[in-house]
Amino acid sequence: MILENRVAIVTGAGSGIGRAGASIMAREGAHVVVADINVMNADETVREIVASGGSAEPLVLDVTDDRALEDGIAAIAARHGRIDILHNHAGAQVAGDLEQVAVAGFDKSWALNVRAHFMAARLVMPLMTRAGKGVILNTSSSSGVLYDREMIAYTTTKHAVIAMTRQMAGDYAKFGVRVNALCPGWVDTPFNEPFIAQMGGRDAIESYIADKVPLGRWADVSEIAEPILFLVSDRSSYMTGQILVVDGGETVV
Ligand SMILES: NC(=O)c1ccc[n+]([C@@H]2O[C@H](COP(=O)([O-])OP(=O)(O)OC[C@H]3O[C@@H](n4cnc5c(N)ncnc54)[C@H](O)[C@@H]3O)[C@@H](O)[C@H]2O)c1
Repeated sequence: MILENRVAIVTGAGSGIGRAGASIMAREGAHVVVADINVMNADETVREIVASGGSAEPLVLDVTDDRALEDGIAAIAARHGRIDILHNHAGAQVAGDLEQVAVAGFDKSWALNVRAHFMAARLVMPLMTRAGKGVILNTSSSSGVLYDREMIAYTTTKHAVIAMTRQMAGDYAKFGVRVNALCPGWVDTPFNEPFIAQMGGRDAIESYIADKVPLGRWADVSEIAEPILFLVSDRSSYMTGQILVVDGGETVV
């Protein structure tokens, strides 16, 4: 097992990609802190991990609440004495172009997609620098490297995640801390439900993806979990400040 004795915090681990990433880390021996705003989702991920023989605990919080994040991370640090991996994954998509998007939606996107990653990283960094090692993975999106039609809040924040990742990586490499970004393409999770509704239903999105993605289909969460495992483990020990795009080829056309 390649993550034995490591403690990992995964935000947004109650569903979708975050859950798949948390599960694969646990399968590889990590103790996983399942951080999510939704108590039922968090408990279900923990239940699934424990049922498979892994180790996990829930941390129910809103990652945009600085105080909750600070208290939660402090409690994990006190209980385990270490935090080896932080996967900042919770994020949201708020649709609209410059004039359509609600200003509150832009602010929410910034708070969740960028600022919460910044805060969580800032809170774990002293433990990682003291340990002389650690891994942070920030979830961006293919929208972090592409123009995405009428999605100004989402693309702006996801581009910012990449800039922030590179800054953290450059500043903290000398302490042995690696920071990379993950850019998934279309992954079949509840995250896309608002977009599917906007598109006009499941058939419309299926033909959209078949047309837009060279591999012609959605990713399954398991196909994103493997790159997550690669990025949070020593398998990527000489990689920092990099952006891994896992998008079925969408960004090549
Ligand atoms: N699914 C995709 O197609 C796709 C593609 C590219 C990038 N992403 C990125 O992946 C992340 C989420 O995707 P998913 O597919 O895993 O979504 P999901 O909807 O399946 O899960 C998101 C989880 O985040 C939790 N969450 C939401 N707000 C939170 C908050 N404030 N505090 C704590 N937890 C919170 C939710 O409760 C949920 O359990 C986002 O960052 C998104 O930008 C997803």
